[in-house]
Amino acid sequence: MIKPDGVQRNLVGEIIGRFEKRGFKLIALKLVQSTVEHFEKHYADHKGKTFFPRLIKHMASGPVVCMVWQGLDAVKTGRAMLGATDPLQSPVGTIRGDYALAVGRSTCHGSDAIESAEYEIKLWFPEGVVQYTSALETWIQE
Ligand code: PPS
Repeated sequence: MIKPDGVQRNLVGEIIGRFEKRGFKLIALKLVQSTVEHFEKHYADHKGKTFFPRLIKHMASGPVVCMVWQGLDAVKTGRAMLGATDPLQSPVGTIRGDYALAVGRSTCHGSDAIESAEYEIKLWFPEGVVQYTSALETWIQE
C-alpha cells in the first residue's frame, strides 16, 4: 500500500515501477480514500500501542494506493524492497531508504507475513484479485 504521504509526494509511479521492474506481477490495484474504521481493521494487531491513533489518523487523511503483487517470495522480498520500519534504519536502495525520513511518513506499507497478506487482500479487495498470464513470466522466472 502506498500511504497518503507517498501519494501526496507523487511517489506512486516510482513505487509501482520498482515492483514491476523487480519482476512481480500486479494482480490488483485501487486508489482509495478510506475510513478510520477500515484502517483500525487493517492495523488491528497494533491496537493499544502508543502510535496507533496517530498512525490511523494519518492513514485516513488522504487517498492510499492498494496493490497486490504476485511472485516468488513476494511478502519477504516486498518487505526487503520497502526497507525497515524506521526510514533512518533503511539502507539506501530501499524505498524508505531513498524517499523517507520519519517512521510516521514512511511512504508505503507491506504485509509482514503470508497470513497478514491474505487478511489484508480480503479487507481491501473483497471482490477478489485478477488472475491472468503475463507473457513476461517465462523471461523473469526459470
Ligand atoms: S511493532 O510495535 O514492532 O509491532 O510495530 P511495527 O511493526 O514497527 O510498526 C507497525 C506499524 O506502525 C507504524 N508505526 C508508526 N507510525 C507512526 N508513528 C510511529 N511512531 C510508529 N511506529 C510504528 C509502522 O510504520 C507500521 O506500519 P506500516 O504500515 O506497516 O509501515
